[in-house]
Amino acid sequence: MEQTNIENTFKTLDEMAELIEQRLELPYIDSLTKGLEFLFTGEILENNNNLLIQSLEKKSKAIQLESLEQEEIRKAIQLTVLKGMQGATQQQHLITPDTVSMFIGYIVQKLIKPEKTIRLFDPACGSANLLTAVLNQLTQKVDSYGSDVDPTLIQLALMNANLQKTEVEFFHQDSLSPFLLEPVDLVISDLPVGYYPNDVQADQFELKADEGYSYSHHLFIEQSINYTKESGFLIFVVPNFLFESDQADKLYGYLHKHAHIVGLIQLPESIFKSESSAKSILLLQKKGPGTQAPKQTLLAKLPSFKDAPAMNNILAKINNWFKEEGI
Ligand SMILES: C[S@@+](CC[C@H](N)C(=O)[O-])C[C@H]1O[C@@H](n2cnc3c(N)ncnc32)[C@H](O)[C@@H]1O
Repeated sequence: MEQTNIENTFKTLDEMAELIEQRLELPYIDSLTKGLEFLFTGEILENNNNLLIQSLEKKSKAIQLESLEQEEIRKAIQLTVLKGMQGATQQQHLITPDTVSMFIGYIVQKLIKPEKTIRLFDPACGSANLLTAVLNQLTQKVDSYGSDVDPTLIQLALMNANLQKTEVEFFHQDSLSPFLLEPVDLVISDLPVGYYPNDVQADQFELKADEGYSYSHHLFIEQSINYTKESGFLIFVVPNFLFESDQADKLYGYLHKHAHIVGLIQLPESIFKSESSAKSILLLQKKGPGTQAPKQTLLAKLPSFKDAPAMNNILAKINNWFKEEGI
């Protein structure tokens, strides 16, 4: 992977998005999506602006898709998405940071044997940065699925996957409504945090709030467990306060009934804007024949990703935990 390839691709994608932003007066993220679509199809839909098309054709010549690696394309797209989301007020629209995606990829490789073909699902896939970052780390055959309610982000996710030549089946829907999807072996998801406004839909879930709005992150956990095979694994990015909220007892009770809590790993606070927005990685296994709770839950607090010796130390401890648990 070449840093200059990533930088040059980012620069061109950014210029294309800015051009569309100016000419079509669209927000940057929507313009980026259209730019990626142009790169993939050579067309820009709903537009007869020949001047724009000519300028895009000229600019896009600087990107030689065939000579780029999947990770170079993903990282360049990620940089443009990050630019587009700068100052985003809605926290749930944020892209999953690379460091977190890489760490989740490492955990997946520990949990799933490389020779096994798997079905993988991200029900809050956003731009598909987390999903494709994990897919790019896996060596086995993976049938992958992603869903998001946001029309721009799901289109962005589709173009992101297409340009990386990664096959993903995307659903554009509220992920708390039913899916036409057979259960999967593994769910990975950076969950949207907050209240879920649809009380009628929330009523379908054991984890609905007894009073008032339900927490969407709780309902996402239940929905994900519903679409996971028995004994399958789930890896979520969750707020640190998950087990301290007013509905935490209900969540505990539900998890105790349906899953094993395999681990809870606190991410470095330095990668989040504030202590209250800091997150952890929750590892679950859906109960199934022969599954049992780990002898000891994996509890860890990650140091700054920049502190290599401390990071190596904690990874050695985590590797040791997997060995002792026989996973
Ligand atoms: C933290 S972001 C995920 C970022 C993603 N992992 C990435 O790398 O780009 C959470 C996502 O949940 C989506 N979301 C929120 N509520 C949803 C719902 N009810 N159904 C489906 N997606 C939802 C948001 O649109 C957002 O893209």
